[in-house]
Amino acid sequence: MEFFKLAYAIELDSGDNLKHFRQKFVRDDPNLIYLDGNSLGMLPEATAERIQNVITKEWGSNLIRNWNDGWYERSQQIAAKLAPLIGAQPDEVIMADSTSLNLFKLAYAALQFQKGKRAIVSDELNFPSDIYLLQGLVKLFGDRHELRLAKSHDNMGISKNEILNKLMDDTALLTLSHVAFKSSFMYDMKEITDMAHEKGAMVLWDLSHSVGAVPVKLNDSNADMAIGCTYKYLNGGPGSIAFLYVRKDLQERLVSPIWGWFGQKDPFNFRLDYEPADGIQRFLAGTPPVLSLSAIEPALDMMLEAGIENLRAKSLDQSRYLIKLFRHFLEPLGFSLGSPEKEQERGSHVSICHPEAYRICKALIDPDTGSKTVIPDFREPDNIRLGITPLYTSYVDIYEAIMQIKMIAEQKLYNHFSVKKEKVT
Ligand SMILES: Cc1ncc(COP(=O)(O)O)c(C=O)c1O
Repeated sequence: MEFFKLAYAIELDSGDNLKHFRQKFVRDDPNLIYLDGNSLGMLPEATAERIQNVITKEWGSNLIRNWNDGWYERSQQIAAKLAPLIGAQPDEVIMADSTSLNLFKLAYAALQFQKGKRAIVSDELNFPSDIYLLQGLVKLFGDRHELRLAKSHDNMGISKNEILNKLMDDTALLTLSHVAFKSSFMYDMKEITDMAHEKGAMVLWDLSHSVGAVPVKLNDSNADMAIGCTYKYLNGGPGSIAFLYVRKDLQERLVSPIWGWFGQKDPFNFRLDYEPADGIQRFLAGTPPVLSLSAIEPALDMMLEAGIENLRAKSLDQSRYLIKLFRHFLEPLGFSLGSPEKEQERGSHVSICHPEAYRICKALIDPDTGSKTVIPDFREPDNIRLGITPLYTSYVDIYEAIMQIKMIAEQKLYNHFSVKKEKVT
């Protein structure tokens, strides 16, 4: 069978052991190819049912009694399910707040813990919001810290030497995205964590682009802290609650800067003096958004059933396939690869670059451009991110998306679209 034909993709799909999961997601447009699960995951059918149940039964009928019938423990219960996906113990993870807020809490706690050390190290490929938060923390601590960003030489990855050069004995905290949002570059978590520890720095990983997509080994890497979101590969829905991880032996030694009643030892005692709860619970602040919290469980169950190693194996196989199609069909049309070639250095999305990337994306998303509507996303200045979400991406999706990109580029169909950027790209 010829590799570059649709029939080959169909054959690959029929041999895919995880293909049955695709049917478990809401799909009301048979012509839609969704390649943006790295930004917002699709809606599992079971989640819609689950939320309906939480609304009508738990909230509607049981009302406030449900706090004693599962809501109070839910942050911990869901986190315990998430823990194996990130190589952590159930009592080292908690669902809480947003990724940004969790970064703030843990980075603040680390800077307090490392009093006297004056540097925070990150890299220039990190998600800008993470950098803004660190800049804000520098201000909050009275401009006593220096924020050092490791540079990328190819706009794609960061060498370990570059990190090492920034890590001096004065470093309080190294914080990085495990998988970079734009290029998909992935760090060797253990190697980098060891390096930072040797310099006396604590390490905080942002797992937003790796959780549910690649097996993460926080315990094996001896990582100190981690944060991440649940609306990408974990399919928790727009703005769904985030999670945080603090290694067991650090939990009682770090102090959250936000002392709310859900992080208090016995909140219903209503005493006026704050006493932190035992363990990971102390990193909670206020009442968790129960609807959002409940929305995460059905997709987590699917991931656990599929197995993160199997998901990674399929993601790698699909990325390999995508890159081969890219080399054959798109490279000759002026596209370049915006993601690392080496598999161990790449997460689960593949970025491709083109000077007309923005308008190509617009053309792909437009339902009238071709026979299929393809949804990837655009990241400045010239990246089209093609997200592979092995629970529901098929080989045919990949083949047809590449064909659509080829057609748009060959026929310059992007010329029909405005260069004016929308608010959300
Ligand atoms: C890597 C990374 N970190 C942090 C954030 C910010 O997350 P939130 O807006 O949910 O706080 C995002 C959002 O996409 C992200 O991709």
